[in-house]
Amino acid sequence: MGYQLLWVVVMFTFMTLGGGKGSTAGEVGNPNDLMGLRSFKAGIRSDTSGRLKTWVGSNCCKWAGISCDNTTGRVTELRLPGFISTEEAPIQTSMEGWLSPSITLLTSLEVIDLSEQGDISGEIPPLIGFCLPKLKKLYLLRNNLSGQVPESIGKLSNLEELFLQENNFSGFLPSSLGNLKSLTRLSLYSNQFSGTIPDSVTNLTKLVSLDLHSNSLTGHIPEKIGELQVLQELDLSNNRLSGKLPISLTNLTAISSILLDGNYLEGEIPFPSAPGKMPSLGFLGLQNNRLTGRIPDAFGYLVSLQRLNLANNGLKGAVPSSLGNLSALRELYLNGNQLSGKLPKSLGQLSQLMLLTISHNLIEGSLPRELSSLQGLQTLDMSFNRLKLTSIPDWVFKMPSLGQIFMAGCGIQGKIPEILQAMPSLLQELDLSVNHLTGSIPAWIGSLTELYSLNLSRNALVSKIPDTITNLHALGMLDLHSNKLTGSVNQVFKIGRSYAAGPLSYIDLSDNSFSSGFEKIGGTQLGIQLLNLSHNFLKGRIPSSIGGFRSMQSLDLSYNGFGFNLPGSLGNVSSLETLKLQKNQFTGIIPHGLLKLKKLKELDLSDNLLEGEIPAGKPLSDFPKNSYSGNRGLCGKPLAPCKV
Ligand SMILES: *[C@@H]1O[C@H](CO)[C@@H](O)[C@H](O)[C@H]1NC(C)=O
Ligand SMILES: *[C@@H]1O[C@H](CO)[C@@H](O)[C@H](O)[C@H]1NC(C)=O
Ligand SMILES: *[C@@H]1O[C@H](CO)[C@@H](O)[C@H](O)[C@H]1NC(C)=O
Ligand SMILES: *[C@@H]1O[C@H](CO)[C@@H](O)[C@H](O)[C@H]1NC(C)=O
Ligand SMILES: *[C@@H]1O[C@H](CO)[C@@H](O)[C@H](O)[C@H]1NC(C)=O
Ligand SMILES: *[C@@H]1O[C@H](CO)[C@@H](O)[C@H](O)[C@H]1NC(C)=O
Ligand SMILES: *[C@@H]1O[C@H](CO)[C@@H](O)[C@H](O)[C@H]1NC(C)=O
Ligand SMILES: *[C@@H]1O[C@H](CO)[C@@H](O)[C@H](O)[C@H]1NC(C)=O
Ligand SMILES: *[C@@H]1O[C@H](CO)[C@@H](O)[C@H](O)[C@H]1NC(C)=O
Repeated sequence: MGYQLLWVVVMFTFMTLGGGKGSTAGEVGNPNDLMGLRSFKAGIRSDTSGRLKTWVGSNCCKWAGISCDNTTGRVTELRLPGFISTEEAPIQTSMEGWLSPSITLLTSLEVIDLSEQGDISGEIPPLIGFCLPKLKKLYLLRNNLSGQVPESIGKLSNLEELFLQENNFSGFLPSSLGNLKSLTRLSLYSNQFSGTIPDSVTNLTKLVSLDLHSNSLTGHIPEKIGELQVLQELDLSNNRLSGKLPISLTNLTAISSILLDGNYLEGEIPFPSAPGKMPSLGFLGLQNNRLTGRIPDAFGYLVSLQRLNLANNGLKGAVPSSLGNLSALRELYLNGNQLSGKLPKSLGQLSQLMLLTISHNLIEGSLPRELSSLQGLQTLDMSFNRLKLTSIPDWVFKMPSLGQIFMAGCGIQGKIPEILQAMPSLLQELDLSVNHLTGSIPAWIGSLTELYSLNLSRNALVSKIPDTITNLHALGMLDLHSNKLTGSVNQVFKIGRSYAAGPLSYIDLSDNSFSSGFEKIGGTQLGIQLLNLSHNFLKGRIPSSIGGFRSMQSLDLSYNGFGFNLPGSLGNVSSLETLKLQKNQFTGIIPHGLLKLKKLKELDLSDNLLEGEIPAGKPLSDFPKNSYSGNRGLCGKPLAPCKV
């Protein structure tokens, strides 16, 4: 009811907008415009918005989504976005069909907006540049369009915004793009464009935003890109050639040129070339490419930068101390490179910094104490460098905003630092894995009530899990694997127990010395997706309440001392993809209910005391023989048939 009423409002808005301007220009639209629009409509098979239904008669200036020039009567705007924002609630609608090349008949068009329709297929008409000289805005984003960007696009000298992202466009980017002298926004991300970024884009001096991420572009970043003086956003990230080659395998010329270029955006970062260049650049994304060389010292001139992402490239050398000049910087991602040397003290000047991640590099030495002045820092990730910290300096835990601490593989020794319980900020994520922590998991851990993720895996912790852990109501992820923990695992299943489907979804307690507690878990923590208790000394039976874990995707109880029959309710865990029960002492038959596990991809029941017929049918018959080997007497597919 409410929905229909809303529609009346929407349609009324469209009709008044569409009609108002054209009303003085006669009752019959321009014949070329009419023909072009009728062909467009004929190409669309379905339109959930109902707007094309208003396209009847011959006064096209009154049709929904159409605007006309009030003196010439020509159509100037074709605005049919899939996402319709109204005063009330926005509505997502969609069109399915084919983009008719006849839209090039609408030669006075200034705006084409067919964005986010989802299923409009076809190509950009090759003649677009010759036919639509007045075009200012071309929004075709988020459809199913394919083919190349036509060379003629370079004729659209009035084009200001070109949004083709999230389609299936491919081929090389035409160098004629460089002729679009009025262009302020060029957004081509998430397509399959290949080849190099044409040097000519550096001639687009009005460009404010250039976004080419997630394509298959190769070669170097154009040398002169730093000449784009009003650029605010530059995103060239994720240009790895993923999966398939962008051209047919029969074209050896093209293939060898791709192999010579490398399969990634590569080479050194060529900008900025001098002080005062790119003064407005606020967002720079170059992550997930294969850029090499050093981070240019001249980056210190990019004084408007708010987010700098250089993660996962091959950058070497020291982190330049000039980065301390970037006084607007809020997020700095340098992870996954080969950066070395000490961290510069100047980073402590980045007073706006909220996130600093430098994990997986070759950084040495200690953490500069100057970082302690970063009042707004929320996330600090220094994992896996060559820091040999011995201990985390106390000032880290006194930073007023820090909520995420990742210090895995930092050579930290001693006990879990007690100062954690006195932090001024609310700790949400703590990763101290792969260190040399000893001693116990302290009872005060239960006071970290905002903790969402706790990773203490691969240390040398010896203790029971304290009962207070049940107070961690916000915990979603608990990884304690590969320590020397003992006692019961039961408390873990009582975490945040007041909520049947609490946030806890990931539990890894494997490779410890736990000995009890799983057999009596009851119907708690039903939201668990991954549970790994392998390589412990757990005994008893799998409780039949396991059937209630409806979200469980991976269950590993292998290498323990579990026994008794497998519960039939295991077949009710229909989301299960991985089930590993090998190296236990389960007895009896394989329950028939396991045939209900249609999503199961990995199964290991080997080295138990199971017997009888493997229930016949998928998925059980599809697993290799060794999924069932080393039992007391199993038979049937995939093993030998049972004797009658
Ligand atoms: C035509 O449109 C212009 C601007 O869009 C407006 O100023 C003018 O009043 C309109 N003329 C008529 C006759 O509607
Ligand atoms: C692109 O095309 C492929 C097949 O050629 C199709 O599987 C995929 O869904 C398309 N992507 C989009 C965004 O339409
Ligand atoms: C997307 O476009 C491709 C290539 O033109 C076509 O084969 C496919 O059917 C289209 N998909 C949809 C959902 O229209
Ligand atoms: C940029 O424009 C200038 C002058 O319009 C032209 O001479 C030059 O060839 C263009 N550069 C590129 C790389 O297209
Ligand atoms: C092969 O690729 C090259 C370089 O991209 C191109 O010039 C040539 O026309 C292509 N040949 C065929 C047969 O597609
Ligand atoms: C950084 O700032 C210092 C002093 O404020 C200045 O001397 C230096 O030239 C700047 N360096 C860069 C690369 O911006
Ligand atoms: C915990 O840390 C280990 C080692 O650093 C890592 O392999 C594991 O993926 C982390 N666990 C989670 C759930 O992220
Ligand atoms: C469970 O943990 C063990 C030991 O830490 C590991 O080898 C195994 O791969 C894990 N199982 C799953 C299903 O991830
Ligand atoms: C499995 O679930 C069904 C329906 O939810 C229920 O009736 C049945 O008792 C369960 N089976 C077992 C063995 O728990």
